Amino acid sequence: MRVVLLGTAAGGGVPQWNCACARCADVRRGVLPARTQDCVAVSGNARDWWLLNASPDIRTQLSATPALRPGPGPRETPVRGVLLTDAELDHALGLTILRGGAGLTGYATAPVRAALDAELPLRGLLDRYAPWTWRDGSGDFELAGGLRVTGLPVGAKAPKYVHSPEPDDRWVSAFRIDDPATGGALVYAPCLARWPDGLDALLADADCALVDGTFFDATELGSAVGRRDSGQALMGHLPVAGPGGTLAALARHPGPRRIYTHLNNTNPLLDPASAARAQVERAGVEVLPDGTEFAL
Ligand code: MLT
Ligand code: MN
Ligand code: ZN
Repeated sequence: MRVVLLGTAAGGGVPQWNCACARCADVRRGVLPARTQDCVAVSGNARDWWLLNASPDIRTQLSATPALRPGPGPRETPVRGVLLTDAELDHALGLTILRGGAGLTGYATAPVRAALDAELPLRGLLDRYAPWTWRDGSGDFELAGGLRVTGLPVGAKAPKYVHSPEPDDRWVSAFRIDDPATGGALVYAPCLARWPDGLDALLADADCALVDGTFFDATELGSAVGRRDSGQALMGHLPVAGPGGTLAALARHPGPRRIYTHLNNTNPLLDPASAARAQVERAGVEVLPDGTEFAL
């Protein structure tokens, strides 16, 4: 299986358009690398590619990735569809960029599909350009190109734009993607409000884990905007650091290559010279640039 980290930032990217913090300023000056919004491409055969989420940056991400460019026919694309972990704007708005593509398939859970019919009515909108097929994104399913997927519901955090969301732990999913030809397995969990039942089992014999690294610590977002409440309370993402953080949970899984993604513009991990980055790297967990490719 080939894997491309198309984008590794949380919603808004880095720099974020309305953020004047020192780190965003460093990115604007070219001192730190810019990052586009979280999105991954996977393929079992290097011909049929599947996007894990569709970020608003997908147009730039596709252009920057030779394997994803169109051809050889005038309207052919190797992109077969999108697997959505959730209905958040940073993961779904890229669907609008993919309008007009023939024969694309979307995978998403029932509440995510319902949000994309009601509050953010992209499914009907897309169909008026070129029809999509939608399938349930939970449980086990197979993708063209030889990949097998397990969708695991991991959380009840609904997007802010949804009015009175029904409590449902399928608002957010993680995916495990297996390539039976190589035995390689990727786990993708970019939105974790808590460490859910079942995630340890998905990670147990995986080769690579791409995990929610939105915030380094629980007070980070609050401090960045001058509030005393915690980033976790504000945004529903587990922090990296601390006893309940993802770094402690990942320590139980020394086997797979472990990578943080969905990094918020407030996150000190963005700076390779930070103490936070040193701590994570000492624990064997990586922070990688957009465009990183590897095979599993
Ligand atoms: C999230 O990951 O919590 C959301 O994408 C937040 C947002 O709307 O930017
Ligand atoms: Mn997000
Ligand atoms: Zn900033």
